Amino acid sequence: MNAQQTSPITLNVDLGDRSYPISIGQSLLSDAALVTRHIAGKRVAVVTNTTVGPLYLDRLVELLKGAGKQVTTVVLPDGEEEKNWASLMRVFDVLLEEKCDRKTTLVALGGGVIGDMTGFAAATYMRGVPFVQVPTTLLAQVDSSVGGKTGINHPLGKNMIGAFYQPQAVIADTSTLDTLPDRELSAGLAEVIKHGAIIDPAFFDWIESNIGKLVGRDPGALSYAIQRSCEIKADVVRQDEREGGLRAILNFGHTFGHAIEAGLGYGDWLHGEAVGCGMVMAADLSHRLGFIDAATAARLNALVKAANLPADAPDLGVERWLELMQVDKKNEGGQIKFILLKPLGTSVIMPVPQDVLLETLKACVR
Ligand code: NAD
Ligand code: GLY
Repeated sequence: MNAQQTSPITLNVDLGDRSYPISIGQSLLSDAALVTRHIAGKRVAVVTNTTVGPLYLDRLVELLKGAGKQVTTVVLPDGEEEKNWASLMRVFDVLLEEKCDRKTTLVALGGGVIGDMTGFAAATYMRGVPFVQVPTTLLAQVDSSVGGKTGINHPLGKNMIGAFYQPQAVIADTSTLDTLPDRELSAGLAEVIKHGAIIDPAFFDWIESNIGKLVGRDPGALSYAIQRSCEIKADVVRQDEREGGLRAILNFGHTFGHAIEAGLGYGDWLHGEAVGCGMVMAADLSHRLGFIDAATAARLNALVKAANLPADAPDLGVERWLELMQVDKKNEGGQIKFILLKPLGTSVIMPVPQDVLLETLKACVR
């Protein structure tokens, strides 16, 4: 493993005629040839938000205009609570006002919220237009920009409205992480830890050994974590693009995590924070079912804390916890399904006995 690698890397998501490259490296947003390679038509609509826009929008627009593109911009309000129908309609309003045609490429400039919403807008505007992901958070660079899950939240459930729709390319400029707040960096580390925990025990060991460097923003360590996460995710998506089975393991920690996000109100805890705590809860459940030993559950707990993520769950009340976990796309016939470690580095998806679930809630809620 070359953890010092900082030169640009290109991976591929192999999906037949919907395959696409993921480029990872520093200052990629200055590379006009790279950015425009996957924008076929003349028209481009860049979707961003009020935080990322002032940082990176002008630069991207100049680059696109310099390459002869006609550029429209949409600047949405920032926040998970804005990942909703009103924001989506705002994108359509601008696209229609500006008479964007079906050859227009949408570019998602931002974190997972902008990426998911722009992807959904691209999937549905004029029944589908191309889009490119330019992820600017660690979470989006290691997870959400890859794999084509797009959508918005509903007040009754997270990511409940959406579509599978793959981008033309993912351009992860790691220099954009320089402006990312520490709390957001930690949120991204939750998804990195998830990839090691569910699929790659050697990567989990590496994260444990390098967590100080990751939290300290060591460029080589971050670059390797992004690369390995994208490799793992691309491989899962290649095997099961539309989540017929295997892809569900990428939801490790999310059954609990989504309940935290919806239960506290979107935007209170960050998505990555809820996933971090959710993974601790799922590891506790795995241990109670005899799938991992206490030391392994403790390792995951310690790693989540070392990433500066919360490991204690909020007290939503048992009834509310159960009600929230019932609104989950993995569930079938009213049965709540969990991704469990069996052992660390391997995962299974299954319903669990209610009494064991209640023990986990009792142990993890503070
Ligand atoms: P986010 O998009 O809200 O971004 C986090 C914050 O960082 C925002 O305030 C944003 O404006 C700001 N920001 C973004 N880039 C920045 C930069 N370079 N410098 C400074 N500030 C910056 O949150 P996120 O953690 O990126 O994504 C979470 C979302 O992703 C959730 O809605 C989640 O459901 C979704 N998600 C989707 C998938 C998928 O497969 N589609 C996977 C995981 C998560
Ligand atoms: N983050 C879950 C998935 O992409 O399937």
